[in-house]
Amino acid sequence: MHRPACSSYLHQLRRRLLLLVLLSAISAAQGHADEFIYNSFSGADLSMDNQASVIDGLLRLSEGTDTKGHAFHTFPLDFSNNPIISSNTSSVPSFSTTFVFAIISDYDDLSTDGLAFVLSSTNKLFSSSAAQYLGLLNSETMGNESNHLLAIELDTIKNQEFGDIDSNHIGIDMNSLISNASKGAGYYTPDGEFKNLKLNSGEPMQVWVDYDSERTILNVTMAPLPSTKPNRPLLSIPYDLSSVLPNTRAYVGFSAAAGGIPTMHCILGWSFMNGEAAALNYSDLPLKSIQQLRAGRHTYKTIIIVCAVLLPTLGIAMIVSATIVKVRMMNRLSKSRTTDIEWEREYGPPSFTYKDLLAATSGFNDKMLLGRGGFGSVFRGVLHHSKQTVAIKRVSPESKQGMKEFMAEILILGHLRHRNLVQLIGYCRHKQQLLLVYDYMPNGSLDSYLHTQDHSTTNICWAQRFCIIKGIASGLFYLHEDWEQVVIHRDIKTSNVLLDGEMNARLGDFGLARSHDHGADAHTTRVAGTWGYIAPELARLGKATKATDVFAFGVLTMEVACGRRPIWVDGANGEPVALSDWVLAAWRGGSITDAVDTRLDDYVEEDIELVLKLGLLCSHPSPNARPCMRRVMQYLRSDAPLPADLQPDNLLRIGVSQELRMMSVERPMSCPATTITDLSKGR
Ligand SMILES: *[C@@H]1O[C@H](CO)[C@@H](O)[C@H](O)[C@H]1NC(C)=O
Ligand SMILES: *[C@@H]1O[C@H](CO)[C@@H](O)[C@H](O)[C@H]1NC(C)=O
Repeated sequence: MHRPACSSYLHQLRRRLLLLVLLSAISAAQGHADEFIYNSFSGADLSMDNQASVIDGLLRLSEGTDTKGHAFHTFPLDFSNNPIISSNTSSVPSFSTTFVFAIISDYDDLSTDGLAFVLSSTNKLFSSSAAQYLGLLNSETMGNESNHLLAIELDTIKNQEFGDIDSNHIGIDMNSLISNASKGAGYYTPDGEFKNLKLNSGEPMQVWVDYDSERTILNVTMAPLPSTKPNRPLLSIPYDLSSVLPNTRAYVGFSAAAGGIPTMHCILGWSFMNGEAAALNYSDLPLKSIQQLRAGRHTYKTIIIVCAVLLPTLGIAMIVSATIVKVRMMNRLSKSRTTDIEWEREYGPPSFTYKDLLAATSGFNDKMLLGRGGFGSVFRGVLHHSKQTVAIKRVSPESKQGMKEFMAEILILGHLRHRNLVQLIGYCRHKQQLLLVYDYMPNGSLDSYLHTQDHSTTNICWAQRFCIIKGIASGLFYLHEDWEQVVIHRDIKTSNVLLDGEMNARLGDFGLARSHDHGADAHTTRVAGTWGYIAPELARLGKATKATDVFAFGVLTMEVACGRRPIWVDGANGEPVALSDWVLAAWRGGSITDAVDTRLDDYVEEDIELVLKLGLLCSHPSPNARPCMRRVMQYLRSDAPLPADLQPDNLLRIGVSQELRMMSVERPMSCPATTITDLSKGR
């Protein structure tokens, strides 16, 4: 009765018939079975808790965010009664188990956290934590030998605190989430070639766990479906399981947990044998259920998560940012870089302990609070060891959106390094919280300098403004052309430019940023960005490109030179005015410098003309007419003259006005709510 798929199995594998009938008789006599096969979990004898359930034959361990679930074979394995055990070996007998799993996430390449095959002295893992603890342990029980727990983890998040090797690995864990051995997911072909597998691809894959009690060797093998078991295991370690599981009983089953990114962990089939692992009958597995689940998810090739509430008006140093990105940087080490940078590129930014951050912020004291947003709070902190002042973003556990953004931000921002980009120094995961640590930007955002309350004064002179423009250009050039992948920022605007202690510009808020390989096409699913900075073709076609970033940069340079917002409402007739139209009008009127911020009295005529014309060129309505950032850098350094045909008459006056028309049609459907808020604030 504990082997619902038994009959079809017997039908297929007649030569095992006798053995199974025998075992069946034994288990019937004992009231439990140490061997079983589930080609579907309908009617399976499982004890489940939390999120775990069986639907359409599929064992779903956990789904959604910040969840966990367990499913154990109801009866414990009884080592004392095992007919195969011999007296001179350890009390944990040899066993072989195989299961087919699938990890389904809405996001390609991104999921939390993972699942594990478990042998445990208890089937009541109630006090375990979700997310990185995989529903197995919690911060208190981590590493305690009295856990009596063996887990084979299939982990899709790289947790620094546990020394994880990457975000797609299989590990053997004893009483702890720090693996005794781990390896990137994959398998060896008969030719000995290693092939990678992606755990969270949504594809069903098979895992075998074999323990040889005489030689005390534990093997873990995996392969895609359908396939025969590879000869060479992925992991093979000498280990006496009796030291982990000293009792005569152990529960066998699965645990899974998710963190901030909604992920479903499923088991399709499972067999457990004392001898050689019984093959699963693939045709009986609930593969259809998996297909349906995969078809039903909202897939994003690369995901844009709209930023949480920005805090520019608070003038705070750090701004929430956000993004989900596909970052395939792990294998893309540039050999010429120094080892340090290589290390950081491969493993991402270092993690901090929660204690460090508590100490840095005096226990997240309100006095250290820089601002609050929809995602949580930002605190100023001083790191104990280095005495470095940092900004610490703390995402509230309720902010699921925020959590996703942070995961992605770690991925993208953690690997970027440039003097004109805000640096992510590290991060910390604590319980359900995520904390990100950045360089502290004491001078806040550029936006607050340009658009002061009383419009009569400015505390930012031309020399500083010119330097800021060059800085932003340099940061954007790095993102577009100088880094190993192309990063489209997608939200270039003055409130996303932060100023460090020397008033150097740092591009922050990678809220909408995404990366792709050089030469590859950036897929785009949604129009996002901020009113006034959105290129006409972006509004029309919804495709973000380097050229749409250049457009926004053009608007920004004019904003810096003119001290005016990209769009404002004219006092006289109540009509909206676009900055580029306004600058162009001044140029046509005979003097482009008439458009310059009247609060500036120290500017170099030649430079400001260059900046204004460059601004117009960059925000040209036709993307093909806009220069690339490499060219922009040359213009700004006066290494190249502006194109000779750059004349007011050649610049069609439909630039931003056209955008206005487009947006009034398209915005309600396609633009984020935060942008609408921005508009109402007159941005
Ligand atoms: C390990 O767990 C046992 C039982 O829960 C407990 O008594 C013991 O104090 C723990 N040891 C450590 C080092 O936390
Ligand atoms: C474990 O793997 C080793 C190395 O490939 C192999 O020699 C051994 O037979 C395997 N043991 C089991 C129980 O699968």
